[in-house]
Amino acid sequence: MNDQQAKEIEDWYHVYVGRFQVNGTLPPMQLLKYDHSMRVAREAMDLARELGWQAQNLHLLWITSILHDIGRFSQFAEYGTFSDRESINHAARGAKVLLAENTLKNLYEEDRQTILDGVRYHNCKMIPSGLSCPSMNILKLVRDADKLDIFWVLLDALQTEKVHEHPEYLLGLRADGKANPKHVRNVCQGKMISTAEIECLADLLLLQIGWIFDINHEATMRHIRDRRFLEQISAFRAEDEGIRCAVKAAVEYRDKKLAAHPDSMEGTCKATRKSKRLGKEDAV
Ligand SMILES: [Fe+2]
Repeated sequence: MNDQQAKEIEDWYHVYVGRFQVNGTLPPMQLLKYDHSMRVAREAMDLARELGWQAQNLHLLWITSILHDIGRFSQFAEYGTFSDRESINHAARGAKVLLAENTLKNLYEEDRQTILDGVRYHNCKMIPSGLSCPSMNILKLVRDADKLDIFWVLLDALQTEKVHEHPEYLLGLRADGKANPKHVRNVCQGKMISTAEIECLADLLLLQIGWIFDINHEATMRHIRDRRFLEQISAFRAEDEGIRCAVKAAVEYRDKKLAAHPDSMEGTCKATRKSKRLGKEDAV
């Protein structure tokens, strides 16, 4: 992907999001997703630089990141919720929007597929097998960057009480109640929870705690430690023993990974591909 192709898609993105304005401004929840997408793109670029990615891969990463939640806009406009369980899978909707709008029409097939895979699978519990190396690398980085920002978004909403003003942050879940003991056990055993299984805010916090087992890069793990996301979750629900136990297990896992050799969790696929445009090796 070259500068011009990236610029065209980014311009399209801003115009597309603008369609959801009401009286000239984006409604708060649409704005939340717009801001989130831009922050995820910046997080992903920072991670890529830390990982030493080559400059020619950064356009693809930037575009996939800003588009990853494109399905959220029509989801909220149609259903009034960000709960996929109560509406549609927003990632599948995102890929559908890009195809219907012909957004990626000027790209080579490989780049088009990489972006579509990044959008379509960014919210899967597990990354599907069989993806190409470029898809895998972009997807893993977008998923890490997405998690970094979602940790921050929910904690910020809870700590500043934005959540009272906009209960949509809670995806239709009830705010009270303790974490489900079955989910606590799973996280303590190193397993993640599915969004389909959560029933209250405490479960949602457990789901996020369990994300620690799905982090692809050591750099991301370091940011999670340095920003104290897990510790902040534990402090927010200090009265919930299940949350405290799950955070303890997650912190142990995080610190063990960080103490190990950095290469032990480096999730970058090293295979190379031929760039059709440049005709040279292009490692993503
Ligand atoms: Fe998403």
